[in-house]
Amino acid sequence: AKYTMVDRETCISCGACGASAPDLFDYDDDGLAFSLLDNNMGKRSVPDELLDDLADAFEGCPTESIRISDNPFTLEKSGKA
Ligand code: F3S
Repeated sequence: AKYTMVDRETCISCGACGASAPDLFDYDDDGLAFSLLDNNMGKRSVPDELLDDLADAFEGCPTESIRISDNPFTLEKSGKA
C-alpha cells in the first residue's frame, strides 16, 4: 500500500497536484495543498485506482512537497493545520 501527504512547510500553492490528482489533493483557504484521503494525516492508504494520479502529482510538484511512503506517516509534518 502507498500513503501520501503534503509537506505543507514547503508547498508553494502551485496547484499542480490538484490538477493531476483531483481526488487526492485539494487546497485550503491559503492555497496550501492537503491530502483529501484523511485531512493530510497520511494514515489512510491510497486506493489502487488513484495510484497513477498520485505518481503524476508526485512528479509534477515543483517543490517535492508530495510525500509518498509504503507505511503510514507519523504525526510529524502531517495534519492539515
Ligand atoms: Fe503545493 Fe506542490 Fe501541490 S507546491 S500545491 S504540493 S504541486
